[in-house]
Amino acid sequence: MSELKNDLLLQALKGEAVSRPPVWMMRQAGRYLPDYIKLRQKYDFFTRVETPELACEITLQPVDQVGVDAAIIFSDILVIPQAMGMEVQMEEGKGPLLPNVVKTESDIDALITTDTAERLNYVMQALSLTKQELNGRVPLIGFAGAPWTLLCYMVEGKGSKTFDKAKQFCFTQPELAHKLLQKITDVTITYLKAQAKAGANLVQVFDSWSGMLSPADFKIFAQPYLVQIADAVSVDVPVILFPKGSWYALEDLSKTSAAGLGLDWSVTPTLARQLTSNNITLQGNFDPSKLLAPIPQIKKEVKEMIDGFGTRRYVANLGHGILPNVPVDHARAFVDAVKEYGA
Ligand code: CP3
Repeated sequence: MSELKNDLLLQALKGEAVSRPPVWMMRQAGRYLPDYIKLRQKYDFFTRVETPELACEITLQPVDQVGVDAAIIFSDILVIPQAMGMEVQMEEGKGPLLPNVVKTESDIDALITTDTAERLNYVMQALSLTKQELNGRVPLIGFAGAPWTLLCYMVEGKGSKTFDKAKQFCFTQPELAHKLLQKITDVTITYLKAQAKAGANLVQVFDSWSGMLSPADFKIFAQPYLVQIADAVSVDVPVILFPKGSWYALEDLSKTSAAGLGLDWSVTPTLARQLTSNNITLQGNFDPSKLLAPIPQIKKEVKEMIDGFGTRRYVANLGHGILPNVPVDHARAFVDAVKEYGA
């Protein structure tokens, strides 16, 4: 396996001194890139995800075109519900739809938990192909959805402003909810370990909807499962947890085996450092909509963000995924501003 020529991200996760912070963007492989949009016109979403050559090509686009310090494999968090036997449709422009949601104990019992790596073999193939094509240029990030966020989709069946059906399920049938969360956790651990074996240098767990939970409910329905995943997978590769909207959980999560914590833009660098006692690498947290501002303003605010976090134990990123309407040169300005920091 080739040595990494740029391992800033891995250095930052270890807490080592770096010449400048590494930078990548959540959802960097996708909708704002003209070359991605061209592929979208030719192949449907799951064809793009399930064809290793296409997934590899899409993964490399932001590395080649925007200059990020890491590649994140092109896939989706909903491949886990699929591998567990649920039907997932992706309607362009509308988002995901799971027509047969989980409602009862027998629905949970029917979920498949075996042969996860084999069922998701196309992801492993995409990872090893991408690793080969990267040829050590930058680290390769694998990922999965967090159990709570996957429960949201498996019970609600689609995106939601409140995820009240998912929450109702948890609050009225907590034993069933925990049974489901544990099944998702077990499958996710197997999946992330297989990603590490296939070539992922690190992994990120996206808890996109954790901020829907109160601090007390986060401790019940999200945190224990994030901790299980971090403990099991960090034996193989560094793990970044991204509990979006859950700044209240930073202190607890900084004491786990996670190597990094992702932040959204609702928290200041100072508060995040205080809550985590400067003990863990922090990643984030530029408001994705700010990439729509004029380039000089983007550059100025990126500098302020890095001033706030400091260059040590820090990974520059957005506070959530890049938006489809961001001009490519604005994405590039964000990345360049990090690269120019201190220069
Ligand atoms: O980050 C990357 O560049 C890798 C690719 C990636 C995708 N989805 C591709 C995708 C990643 C890391 C994801 C994660 C994901 N998927 C999350 C967690 C991150 C987050 O944004 O909170 C979630 C909640 C999903 C579920 C999902 N997939 C939704 C809600 C949607 C539709 C809305 C949207 O964001 O576009 C998708 C579809 C999807 N996944 C697209 C892409 C590029 C858009 C489909 C298309 O137009 O090509």
